[in-house]
Parts: sequence; C-alpha cells; structure tokens
Amino acid sequence: MSQIQEKTQVIRLEQLTSDIVRLTLDAPEISSIASPGQFVMIRTGNTSDPLLRRPFSISQTSSDGSFQILFKVVGRGTSLLSHCRKGEYLSVLGPLGRGYRIDPHRLACLVGGGMGIAPLLFLGKTIMRKYPDQGPVVVLGAKNREELAPLIDDFADLGLKVHVATDDGSLGHHGLLTDVLKALDLGPQCTTYVCGPKPMMTAVHLFCRSKHYGCQVSVETSMACGMGACLGCIVPLEKGGYGHSCSDGPVFDAEELVWSL
Ligand SMILES: Cc1cc2nc3c(=O)[nH]c(=O)nc-3n(C[C@H](O)[C@H](O)[C@H](O)COP(=O)(O)OP(=O)(O)OC[C@H]3O[C@@H](n4cnc5c(N)ncnc54)[C@H](O)[C@@H]3O)c2cc1C
Ligand code: FES
Repeated sequence: MSQIQEKTQVIRLEQLTSDIVRLTLDAPEISSIASPGQFVMIRTGNTSDPLLRRPFSISQTSSDGSFQILFKVVGRGTSLLSHCRKGEYLSVLGPLGRGYRIDPHRLACLVGGGMGIAPLLFLGKTIMRKYPDQGPVVVLGAKNREELAPLIDDFADLGLKVHVATDDGSLGHHGLLTDVLKALDLGPQCTTYVCGPKPMMTAVHLFCRSKHYGCQVSVETSMACGMGACLGCIVPLEKGGYGHSCSDGPVFDAEELVWSL
C-alpha cells in the first residue's frame, strides 16, 4: 500500500454551516493515487495538543492536484482545523486504508448518513467516470436541512438523483434514510456502499442481507496511528479474531464484520 507524508497547502476553507467545513488542500502526490473510501491523517496544529493526527475521508480529488475533506467541528483537532488559513501548510499522511471495491455488474446505491456522506462524493464521481451507464442511486440522511442541504448539491451537480431523509422532516422524507432505501426499486442486483452512524449501517446491512444485495460499509472507529501499528482501531471479524479498521478497512464487506444486533 502506497502512503505519503505530504506537506500540503490550504487552498480554500469554506464554512458550509455553523459547524461543517470543507477544506481544499493542494496535495498532488496524495491526490494522484487516492481511491474512494480511503482517508488521510492530518496534523491539525503545530503544537503537541492534540498530539495525534486526525483521520478524515477524502471527499473528492481534482485534476489540479488538490483534494477535499468535509468535516464537522466536534473537538479540539477539528476546531483548530476549522481555523486554518489559506496558504498555511498542513502535514498530511495518506492515502490510507482499503477503500470501496466498485462492482461494475450491479446497480450502485450510495448510502450516507451525517458526515458519513463525505467519502461518497468521490465514489459517485468515480463510478460516473468509469461506468457512466451505471449512474448510481444516492440516499442521504442527516439531522436536519441545515446539515444536509449544503452536501446535496455536489451530488446533484454530477447529474445523480438524490433521495433524502431528515430526522426532523425539514428536508425530504421525515424519518430514517432506511425507510427511503426500502421504498426504492433497486432491482435484483444491487450493491450498497455505506458510511455513517453504526445503527444506520446495521439497518442497511440487515436490509441488504434480506435482499441478497452486496453491502460495503466504511467503519469510522477512533484511530491513533492510522496505519496498522497500534491496536487503536480493531473491530471483531465474523471469521474470528480482529481486523484493523485503518489498514484492513475502513471499508469492509458488511458480512466480514460482527454486528451487535
Ligand atoms: C477513517 C475515518 C474517516 C473519517 N472521516 C471523517 C470525515 O470525513 N468527516 C468528519 O467530520 N469526521 C470524520 N471522521 C471522524 C473524525 O476523525 C473525528 O471527528 C475527529 O478525529 C475528531 O477530532 P477532534 O480532535 O476534533 O475531537 P476529539 O476531541 O478527538 O473528540 C471529540 C468528540 O468526538 C468523538 N469522536 C472522535 N472521533 C470519533 C469517531 N471516529 N467516531 C465517533 N466519534 C468520534 C469523541 O469521542 C469525542 O466525544 C473520520 C474518522 C475515521 C476513523
Ligand atoms: S489506528 Fe493504529 S492500528 Fe489502526
């Protein structure tokens, strides 16, 4: 697995909502080899607090050598990152992990909840480029309109039909995104590519199992090193033992994992 430590320059920082930020970094080496579902570890500041890099999914790459991440401010590291300035340099390690494996023979359905939407844009773009006849179905969910609306446009700009659900009904279906997923006619051959909160991924996995659909999930456990050197991110495997979500994942076939149902 190739991974690079790159000194990246901040090209743009966009405040999409009060706590959701899109960061564009100039990183030609990482961008040129990244694939959908992979992530980067970013040093969020120049001091030892926080000591550890923070993991973020690559939400899209561009032919100009940049990539983007989308993140929510939840603590010290993301707060520091949300205050970085255009032109500043950030140390980034990546691309890391095993991403989504695109099945070109089945309808692709991208399912994202909350900030789990981030890696799906890169995946949607890649599927549209490589398998244009297989324009994926997209199902996105979040707490409310404020959180979801700014994330939808990028998918719509690709020409994808986006189905949405919000917890409070302020945009799209009032309720769970799995209600929307179950109501869609996805035919007999489908693979879902999923990222989001664990209860949502569990529900999608069970639905896919009942339909004999493929299901790949991105497991965003907390991480320390991000490259298989500690035990910070282990997840139990159905075959026995544990896998590192940073190096064996973050994307797993749902059937590889043990689910607490
Ligand atoms: C592979 C991977 C990809 C990720 N991609 C994204 C992304 O694209 N966008 C995004 O917004 N976030 C993403 N995350 C989560 C992101 O890494 C954390 O939100 C971030 O590390 C928090 O750092 P902090 O210093 O701001 O908060 P901390 O002070 O470290 O934590 C603040 C709070 O957030 C909780 N928290 C921290 N990390 C996680 C986690 N992984 N899962 C659930 N709760 C957590 C902590 O328990 C604590 O309650 C990803 C995580 C992984 C492992
Ligand atoms: S985060 Fe250290 S082994 Fe995965």
